[in-house]
Amino acid sequence: MNSETIKIIGIPGSLRKNSYNKYLIMNMFEMLPENAESEILDLNGVPIYNQDEEPNAPYSVNLIRKKVRDADLIFISTPEYNHAISGVLKNAIDWLSRPPSQSPFAWKTVAVLSASTGSIGGARAQEDLRRILEPLGAIVVPRPEVILTNADKKFDNNGHLVDQEARKLMAELLQNSIRLSLAIKNSMHEQFALRLLT
Ligand code: FNR
Repeated sequence: MNSETIKIIGIPGSLRKNSYNKYLIMNMFEMLPENAESEILDLNGVPIYNQDEEPNAPYSVNLIRKKVRDADLIFISTPEYNHAISGVLKNAIDWLSRPPSQSPFAWKTVAVLSASTGSIGGARAQEDLRRILEPLGAIVVPRPEVILTNADKKFDNNGHLVDQEARKLMAELLQNSIRLSLAIKNSMHEQFALRLLT
């Protein structure tokens, strides 16, 4: 794996203190290589989106926007609420998507995960999230799909993921995500250098 520093952020789409989606990201971050800087964002302070407020976006939104913009790689783990992503996550994405020409997700590598207590692990929400991210210019890591079913039975009391199959898929997703994000980052640097030369 490349040794240059890679900035990674994680966004759980649930505000719940013991959110399984937050645990999933925490477990993923325990697998990161030494050259990674990581941070989990909390969507708690993000107000309900109102287009009238767009010119004066609140501090919480601007902070998240900056963190997304500065990241090389973003992990988003979504719960499934009524067969779709959570309102909290959609609300935050709606804020970040404006104005459309300045999407902080443009050319960002985004890896999507989902955890739910149901038997299909938020697969529908994950599909929903992939679809929402695409028009924002995100490069969504195609595979593997990490879909944690019956999430209430997959963590120990310390929030450690005990499902070995899921851990294996997460390690694979992590490796694919880092490779893709570094390829994008390096190609951006190359294009910038070429522009300076011409
Ligand atoms: C749910 N849950 C749920 N699960 C699922 O697999 N499919 C669904 O459509 C829904 N719908 C749904 C709606 C609402 C309003 C709630 C509160 C819950 C259950 C959900 O998977 C469970 O609460 C997870 O634990 C939510 O994720 P966090 O908060 O643990 O990250």
